[in-house]
Amino acid sequence: MKVNNKYYRSIWLKEKDPSVVLSIDQRKLPFEFHVVEFKTVEDIREAIENMTVRGAPLIGVAAAYGMYLAAYNQPAGNYAEKYFSDIAEKFKSARPTAVNLALAVNRSLDNILDEEKPADRLNAAMQTALELAEQETGYCQNIGRFGLPLIEKISKEKAGATVNILTHCNAGWLACVDYGTATAPIYFAHEKGIKVHVWVDETRPRNQGARLTVWELSQQGIPNTLVTDNAGGMLMQQGKVDIVLVGSDRTTITGDVANKIGTYLKALAAKDNNVPFYVALPSTSIDPSLRNGLNEIPIEKRSGEEVEFMEGMLGTGLKHVRICEEGTNISNLGFDITPARLVSGLITERGICQAKEEDILKLFPEFSDTR
Ligand code: MRU
Repeated sequence: MKVNNKYYRSIWLKEKDPSVVLSIDQRKLPFEFHVVEFKTVEDIREAIENMTVRGAPLIGVAAAYGMYLAAYNQPAGNYAEKYFSDIAEKFKSARPTAVNLALAVNRSLDNILDEEKPADRLNAAMQTALELAEQETGYCQNIGRFGLPLIEKISKEKAGATVNILTHCNAGWLACVDYGTATAPIYFAHEKGIKVHVWVDETRPRNQGARLTVWELSQQGIPNTLVTDNAGGMLMQQGKVDIVLVGSDRTTITGDVANKIGTYLKALAAKDNNVPFYVALPSTSIDPSLRNGLNEIPIEKRSGEEVEFMEGMLGTGLKHVRICEEGTNISNLGFDITPARLVSGLITERGICQAKEEDILKLFPEFSDTR
């Protein structure tokens, strides 16, 4: 997508210097647009862990680029299998909830180990990273195409009046290489001249909605309003939300959805107010091996510091401000599970389906083998 009229993806290889992977430092937005350089495996592992790069599809692609850097910097000697497998494990443990990470790393590892010679391994690692970035971009475009009719229909029902969409966290292009998952149908609708407006949940504790989604939408000229995390229910009761669109970090084959903490409460409010609640996700976020989201999806527990301090701009610098007494007990669960029964539909790169095993398998029959 464009930033100040220049086209960007959220990760790419440096032109004329294949030893460097570039990305956008998401911890500095919206105050500073800073392109960050990764030269080593550790640079990328750390960036995934500290959320310089974040969002399910992006961390998968970033880890694939990390595997590429591992191949680029591989030491001489005949211990490739252990070397690459150890690095793959490091990436997989950086963030546990998004299944895209393990999928991308496993694919890269398989492709690397299929080759014998270091040069071929390097090539396989690079091709895998590039392909995954293209794949996620294409998936998001298709999600946009398939999601558009949902917005179009509401617009027609409202005789062309503005369609109000509520979203949580950031399931935008920063999180997904390009376009975004939940945001792609919004961009497509906007391009088509359909009037849209987005309610953006701030998304405590890291405020990805306030800091990233608002910025992304505003860059593309899409009207949006920032609201507190607790406002969605009231907005729905007042008839001010026509549809909820969120992303997913991992969805089970039965349609249970893990997404940023707070998503479940929006789904409950949507159900109570007959507001359609759709989850936009690429198949790389579906985990065909899991059947019960609540029992089986690992929920990332993040540092209490994210809750204890608020980060924001003070004067010319980013500052942390304590918001509770020192020593306060804190729990910081990164994600929650929205049960399939609360989901109106899944918008995928192959079409929309119900959040049910038989429907998911109709779109993705290849998952039958991996259950
Ligand atoms: O902890 P984050 O910021 O990586 O969490 C991201 C989300 O929850 C997004 O909504 C998600 O990755 C889904 S779609 C990109």
